[in-house]
Amino acid sequence: MNAPPQSQRVWDLPTRLFHWSLVVLIGLQYATGEFHFLDMDWHFRFGYATLVLIAFRVLWGFFGSQTSRFADFVRGPGAVWRYLRESMSAHVPTRIGHNPLGGWSVLALLACVAVQAISGLFASDDIDTDGPLVAHVSGKTVKLMTRVHHWNENLLLVLIGLHIVAVLLYLLLKHDNLITPMFTGAKRVGAMRDLRFASSWLALVLVALCAALVATLVWWAA
Ligand code: HEM
Ligand code: HEM
Repeated sequence: MNAPPQSQRVWDLPTRLFHWSLVVLIGLQYATGEFHFLDMDWHFRFGYATLVLIAFRVLWGFFGSQTSRFADFVRGPGAVWRYLRESMSAHVPTRIGHNPLGGWSVLALLACVAVQAISGLFASDDIDTDGPLVAHVSGKTVKLMTRVHHWNENLLLVLIGLHIVAVLLYLLLKHDNLITPMFTGAKRVGAMRDLRFASSWLALVLVALCAALVATLVWWAA
């Protein structure tokens, strides 16, 4: 199959940096939490960085570039169903941005990572590792959040597995390479789409704001 003729910028730099930083951080979180690859202090530090990333991505979903905005890719069940039916046909044009089904998987992944990181703040191993907010809530809440942290780590693995399988199926069955654009930002398309891109400086300001919020929370908790 011939590659479509034109190259279009699809993903901005902040979204791509967000994605690959999240992948690295989640890997490090499992390595430290599950396999004790480093001290648990590092599990916490990577966890704070994950919280900053997630908070940034939520803001970027409202103030970021067009393809990263929730309004651009969160669609109702009708649109998802139409997309599924159309994608059975071999001649659907290459999508620019998240498709209606992928949009929901993005929300599910973001929500699941958020639940994992927030529950960690209240989790405890009852020996020597307490999340920073443990002292501020009841023992019952700590038990519940620790359970959530344990169950949700498995749900997150399932979602990540499905995500990777879906991306590979697009590549193998539909010859639609989604992976390269997540690195380079550009995709070969049949028809161009007019897109608005937000400034990377704005992203930097938002990341600094999120980092300040998380740092204040951790400082207050201590
Ligand atoms: C810890 C593992 C991972 C997590 C938590 C994760 C999460 C996400 C999230 C949240 C998005 C939405 C991006 C945005 O709009 O901000 C996304 C998109 C994407 N991810 Fe991942 N991802 C993971 C691993 C991977 C891996 C290993 C690959 C490559 C095989 C990959 C390929 C992609 C691609 C191609 C997209 C764009 C999909 C599209 O074109 O709609 N991801 N991922
Ligand atoms: C997305 C981010 C995170 C991931 C993927 C993650 C993953 C994990 C994993 C796999 C474990 C081992 C659980 C087990 O033994 O079954 C763990 C334990 C733990 N995590 Fe996280 N974690 C994250 C964020 C956080 C954060 C932000 C904090 C606190 C700042 C935190 C605090 C803890 C604590 C206190 C434990 C020990 C609980 C116990 O062993 O019962 N985690 N985490």
